[in-house]
Amino acid sequence: MTADKPRVFVSRKIPDAGLEPLRRRCDVTMWPHERPPTADELIAACRGMDALVCLLTEKIDAGVLAAAPTLKIVANVAVGFDNLDIDAGTAAGVIMTNTPGVLDDTTADLAFALLMAAARRLPEGDRLVRSGRWDGWGIMQLLGHDVHHGRLGIVGFGRIGRGVARRARGFEMKVSYHDAQRVPADVEREFGATYLPFEELLAESDFVSVHVPLTPETHHLIDRRALKRMKPTAVLINTSRGPVIDESALVDALRERVIAAAGLDVYEHEPKLAAGLADVPNVVLLPHIGSASFATRGKMAQIAAENVIALFDGKTPPTALNPQVLASQRPS
Ligand code: GLV
Repeated sequence: MTADKPRVFVSRKIPDAGLEPLRRRCDVTMWPHERPPTADELIAACRGMDALVCLLTEKIDAGVLAAAPTLKIVANVAVGFDNLDIDAGTAAGVIMTNTPGVLDDTTADLAFALLMAAARRLPEGDRLVRSGRWDGWGIMQLLGHDVHHGRLGIVGFGRIGRGVARRARGFEMKVSYHDAQRVPADVEREFGATYLPFEELLAESDFVSVHVPLTPETHHLIDRRALKRMKPTAVLINTSRGPVIDESALVDALRERVIAAAGLDVYEHEPKLAAGLADVPNVVLLPHIGSASFATRGKMAQIAAENVIALFDGKTPPTALNPQVLASQRPS
């Protein structure tokens, strides 16, 4: 340990691709437990630290920043940053960073896997075979919905949404999208995607896949009313953030067959599930593993480390969310 090395708190064990460069350049303290630190434990651990490398399970707000006045950078190992209060960071002179660009394909893969699993009832089939109750091939057994040639509606046409559109081409799906902003015509052509107003997209799609960031505007974007707009044969997929869907309304919609099925990787109150969600058979539930491949999680950790190291090398962190802070950075 060298006194003049920047002090970094890493809030969970992260892949070596991020940890090793951090350890070479900084004095690293790592949270030793599997579970996330509580808010109080996080604050205690951040005292005297120059940098925090955190996960999406850590909420970094004005309170944490005020309690850790030596912090200069918070590097989130995630692309979504609804757990960070960017305005509070800017006000406190703390740079905040995320990990864009490296997890798009991995997350689009998972969205497509969920879509197929929910449409073709893969977990139900798996449970049946394992239970020993499967008594052989049945012509009416576990009938699902065709993915090929289906109508896919993508809500949020950013990098991940576009990745899903690209995959849908292989299944000869008819792709439409909705986004706050319509993309240029050449991008629509490139992805073979047609713009639709939100309500129309809900009403016309066989599959609705959600890829918006969580903001006050997208909170409960898919609510009871939106679910009612969907086809009774529709399948809803969410790999973005849980609170984008009203989860209790979804439980009712799945129970009452307002829609046919859903595939979820994220939840409104993670890791808790809405009452009844785990009991409905027509939903596939994953534990927020959208970006969970060895390669991608390594790249995410590496980007977080690069951001921290860049700052301490006097450079602009490459994926800073509030780079304007550098002009008024907290003195060391
Ligand atoms: C994962 O959900 C991420 O935002 O990176």
